[in-house]
Amino acid sequence: MGEPIAVGVLGAGYVGLVSAACFAEVGHRVVCVDRDERKIAALRRGEMPIYEAGLEDLVRRNAAAGRLTFETETAAAASACELLFVAVGTPSLDNGDVDMSQIKSAMEAIAESSADDKIVVIKSTVPVGTGAMAEALLRSKARSGVRFDVVSNPEFLREGSAVHDTFHMDRIVIGAASPAAGERLREALAPFDAPVLMTNRESAELIKYASNSFLATKISFINEMANLCEKVGADIGMVAQGMGMDKRIGPSFLNAGIGYGGFCLPKDTRAQLFIAENVDYDFKIMRAVVEVNQLQRQRFVRKVRAAFDGELAGKTLAVMGLSFKPNTDDLRDAPSLDIIAMLRQYGASIRAYDPVSGPKAAKLLPGVPIADDPYEALRDADAMLVVTEWAQVKTLDLDRAKAALRRPLVFDGRNVFDAAAMRAQGFRYFGIGKS
Ligand code: UGA
Repeated sequence: MGEPIAVGVLGAGYVGLVSAACFAEVGHRVVCVDRDERKIAALRRGEMPIYEAGLEDLVRRNAAAGRLTFETETAAAASACELLFVAVGTPSLDNGDVDMSQIKSAMEAIAESSADDKIVVIKSTVPVGTGAMAEALLRSKARSGVRFDVVSNPEFLREGSAVHDTFHMDRIVIGAASPAAGERLREALAPFDAPVLMTNRESAELIKYASNSFLATKISFINEMANLCEKVGADIGMVAQGMGMDKRIGPSFLNAGIGYGGFCLPKDTRAQLFIAENVDYDFKIMRAVVEVNQLQRQRFVRKVRAAFDGELAGKTLAVMGLSFKPNTDDLRDAPSLDIIAMLRQYGASIRAYDPVSGPKAAKLLPGVPIADDPYEALRDADAMLVVTEWAQVKTLDLDRAKAALRRPLVFDGRNVFDAAAMRAQGFRYFGIGKS
């Protein structure tokens, strides 16, 4: 790489912590700041607040090499670093708008504690216009002679493969009002060796929402297609494969299931709708995407109920997988939580299995026993419900599973099993989008 650069990262959540560790790995000197003292103390001991493949190694190695330090005060980064990446949370408010309070307080802290010029890079997902607003705020509060430039650099990493994604980015988007600031950021990110799109700030901010909204649209589209398949005797796996062979469509994000979850797609699709409403634009497709996603969870529950002739009281259902997707312990907006709540409302008893998120899930699901052995969760259950496609679920010993269950009944919300093979093995099997 070129010259190492002193880089501050504000916010040690998924995006901030992974970015900080990866910046250090390519040789930059990184100060990662979070106001949560317990989190910083744990990180200094080498303990990760989240489960993410490869992260612990990266953090420990770079901290030991002195390239990565953890602090609780913004001033620690502002005094040492030329580039300040802002990766604080931008959660949804109840009305669907974006809560910008953490962004604003980060800007205030930067303005207060910076004694020389800074390039402030916004990595958090923020509505269009935030870069301009943040720059105006910083400049209005700057000490005399200090110049701030704000650059938008949206993040596209996925939870569960965040470290891998950071080293294999499809693109880097840099939205700058000042060409010099944009160029400096390009230099800092050069070691990641990804195609760079230089654009204006507003476009960069919108690219992030547009990308997540489009991914959500693909998922809701394929889910509706799956529902149609069930009615006409088609197989969604084949339909998606046939569609995906067209290079213009592409094969990814066409897995039908129980709908998208997680912290990003649900939040960003709602925010996208709110952004459109604010400028009096009726974004019809997005409204449908959000609605279809909610219905998909309900549909799955309806399918389970129907198989028990509408009577779930007294039945025990084994839910396999709780996190919103495999390889993460994240339960935010996980379909499992909604599905379990609905099933319990109908009187079912739930047992669950998740290889990683068990301890977190126990707090959110009082009264639901969570096993760390899948066969334990299945023992004497009336059905198995596949909710998250963990490798441990995909590779279950099906003979053992069948022997553990009271009835050989499987609802496969992620199409991890082959319908014909399951039926041949004596299961009564319901997938998504398969007759
Ligand atoms: C998503 C985007 O993929 C990232 O590019 C983006 O950076 C990130 O949001 C963010 O804004 O921070 P993530 O939420 O980690 O990443 O998870 P995804 O892999 O996108 O999966 C989201 C949900 O969609 C999961 O519940 C998954 O099960 C579901 N999904 C995904 C499907 O139901 N079908 C598919 O074909 C793909």
